[in-house]
Amino acid sequence: MARFTLPRDLYHGKGSLEALKSFKGKKAMICVGGGSMKRFGFLDKAESYLKEAGMEVRIFDGIEPDPSVETVMRGAQAMLEFEPDWIVAIGGGSPIDAAKAMWIKYEYPDCTFEDMCKVFGIPELRKKAHFCAVSSTSGTATEVTAFSIITDYSKGIKYPIADFEITPDVAIVDPELAETMPKKLVAHTGMDAMTHAVEAYVSTANCDYTDPLAIHAIEMIKDDLVKSYNGDMDARDRMHNAQCLAGMAFSNALLGIVHSMAHKTGAVFADYGAHIIHGAANAMYLPKVIAFNAKDETAKKRYGVIVDYMGIADKNATDDEKVDALIAYLRKMNDDLNIPHCIKNYGADSYPTEQGFVPEDVFIERLHDIAVNAIADACTGSNPRQPSVEEMEKLLKCCYYDTEVDF
Ligand SMILES: NC(=O)c1ccc[n+]([C@@H]2O[C@H](COP(=O)([O-])OP(=O)(O)OC[C@H]3O[C@@H](n4cnc5c(N)ncnc54)[C@H](O)[C@@H]3O)[C@@H](O)[C@H]2O)c1
Ligand SMILES: [Zn+2]
Repeated sequence: MARFTLPRDLYHGKGSLEALKSFKGKKAMICVGGGSMKRFGFLDKAESYLKEAGMEVRIFDGIEPDPSVETVMRGAQAMLEFEPDWIVAIGGGSPIDAAKAMWIKYEYPDCTFEDMCKVFGIPELRKKAHFCAVSSTSGTATEVTAFSIITDYSKGIKYPIADFEITPDVAIVDPELAETMPKKLVAHTGMDAMTHAVEAYVSTANCDYTDPLAIHAIEMIKDDLVKSYNGDMDARDRMHNAQCLAGMAFSNALLGIVHSMAHKTGAVFADYGAHIIHGAANAMYLPKVIAFNAKDETAKKRYGVIVDYMGIADKNATDDEKVDALIAYLRKMNDDLNIPHCIKNYGADSYPTEQGFVPEDVFIERLHDIAVNAIADACTGSNPRQPSVEEMEKLLKCCYYDTEVDF
């Protein structure tokens, strides 16, 4: 038996933030990040809509990018004090993910972070509060997914919390919120969305319900991401829907080792002064993983189908030629979006540079542990080809040096 779960309600289109006016409840806690939502007026709007709905509102702000376990615990404490019956998370993946984890801890104060990380092991929520997610970036689609990514900075590792219990009750996909994104954020979150759709389509858990969502998302992202990056606001609006469709697909079809590798490399070099931003990591690793996965016949065929829908190779080309076309196309997208091809060239500001912020000797020294951790990541199980530790090390090396994957 398989399960397909999405939020019960999804409001979309310009101005859909107003849906908050129709919510029924007594107290709403708004969870938000470091200031962009306040600066652009969306936080004030959300607050006034909820007040118009007759609710008492409290704001938990300052949730940092790549939120920590500590932030989750602080937010849960604030919820336990305020006792909201609605949690409304507004912003990018970071504040929404943090709020999802706070929600678990609010409903079950004895639940530890370790307990939360047991895949599909979250007890029944909604005894205290319902959850609404309003996304302001066009990438993670956490507004419709069963996932939350929290970083344990003592280990330098991102942990995915995965359970349909944390799929929000309501998603608001209002493109006005995404229009204020700076270019770099458009690029990174957009390639995150592309990776979600491609990984979901070739995942071993793909099905008839997830395939059309993934394929349509890929077609839209192919058409609109670079345009959105270059300032086309109609394309920006469409990207907000495209990333959400990709999220609906991967929340139910799961992901693969591009994400396993991104989760385990993102924060592990933080002591060298930077992060490898999630979307940028995915963008760099995706072409390498496609080459690796294409050794699996089923995956290769499915990449071929993706290429047929994208229309980037002759329909009569062989599947090998189609895989090559897909890799070349994605690399060209990285070029157009100013994303490097490998960790070695990944600058501390995320832009391509001759010598990136991760020193070669440090990478080699940490390689084995990263490989072991990546294999243990919750996203590895649904990858079409299961790598050994040795293969994962080789793959990560290709992602460091931008060398060809021939194994
Ligand atoms: N839950 C999931 O299913 C899932 C999937 C993929 C990634 N993630 C996680 O989500 C996090 C990344 O989320 P993200 O990429 O959305 O970025 P983010 O939430 O970390 O935000 C990045 C920065 O952009 C700013 N920002 C957000 N929206 C803006 C807007 N509209 N205008 C101007 N500035 C804006 C924020 O203030 C912040 O400084 C990572 O921790 C990643 O691991 C989660
Ligand atoms: Zn992602």
